[in-house]
Amino acid sequence: MDLYHKDVVSIMDFSKDDIEGILDMAEKMVPYAKGEKMKRTLDGKILGNLFFEPSTRTKLSFESAAYRLGCDVIDVSEMSMTSMAKGETLADTIKIVDAYCDATVLRHPFEGAAKLAAKFSDHPVINAGDGAGSHPTQTLLDLFTMRSAKGSLDGLNITLVGDLKYGRTVHSLAQALTKFGMNITLVAPESLRMPNDIIDHLEASGCHPKITESLDDAVSEADVLYVTRIQRERFPDPSEYQKVAGTYRVDKALLERAKSDMIVMHPLPRVNEIAPEVDDTPHAKYFEQAANGVPVRMALLNGLLGGEF
Ligand code: NCD
Repeated sequence: MDLYHKDVVSIMDFSKDDIEGILDMAEKMVPYAKGEKMKRTLDGKILGNLFFEPSTRTKLSFESAAYRLGCDVIDVSEMSMTSMAKGETLADTIKIVDAYCDATVLRHPFEGAAKLAAKFSDHPVINAGDGAGSHPTQTLLDLFTMRSAKGSLDGLNITLVGDLKYGRTVHSLAQALTKFGMNITLVAPESLRMPNDIIDHLEASGCHPKITESLDDAVSEADVLYVTRIQRERFPDPSEYQKVAGTYRVDKALLERAKSDMIVMHPLPRVNEIAPEVDDTPHAKYFEQAANGVPVRMALLNGLLGGEF
């Protein structure tokens, strides 16, 4: 797939081959992401970073990825600091930012925001998380991390645990996993189960996920344990959050029941769903996963902006 000038709204916009192409390119980017080698393939380009929800990893890794390739970045992190505070629509704001840069990265609290932004932009729009909707570039770095650790993605057993209802990372990830024939187990409390439209998509793709509330039952089969934070900020009723807070915790005792080469992933930030004692075990891959955001986003930006690599 020629990525040039494409929008990245949903992981469903990419085929298995497209995804593998991006991961292959990301592998080539690793020494450049670490600053061991230099190549300014995007010299003179400008990236617009609009983050209207909190972000550490996604925002900074997009910035780092851009700078590593010689691309400048302009950014806004507070809606209150834009004309949206004066009543400007997202559509108008996006048209203006589009005029000032070569691509826009958008994180926004509303599901569908990136799709709308893509409609009003001539240049590429990258969805960096739209409410509880999706987070396709996180999925690319998740797949990159799994492939690096396991050699191949095909046929792996993966368990997604935690907030599968509001967690946008697992929505995009589940959609992508169907392309790799992975065996999926979904672990969540009843009130935080994976939305039906995604379950329907999994079923229609021939992937029949196991659904359970028990992490203890699911852990021994897993090659990959993908842990998520309960998304407190998305609960309409705080007392509902209190009912499920702390439901799952991955600690050394749980890991004794896991395969010796099972990897634990998490998009981060974690609250208390992974005990710090896990960090020093060979299972822990979440910090490496976060670091992989840079080469993966370099591969993406280079493709979208037509860098010669
Ligand atoms: C995630 C997000 O923002 O959806 N974080 C990230 O991008 N790495 C996960 C979360 O906030 O729990």
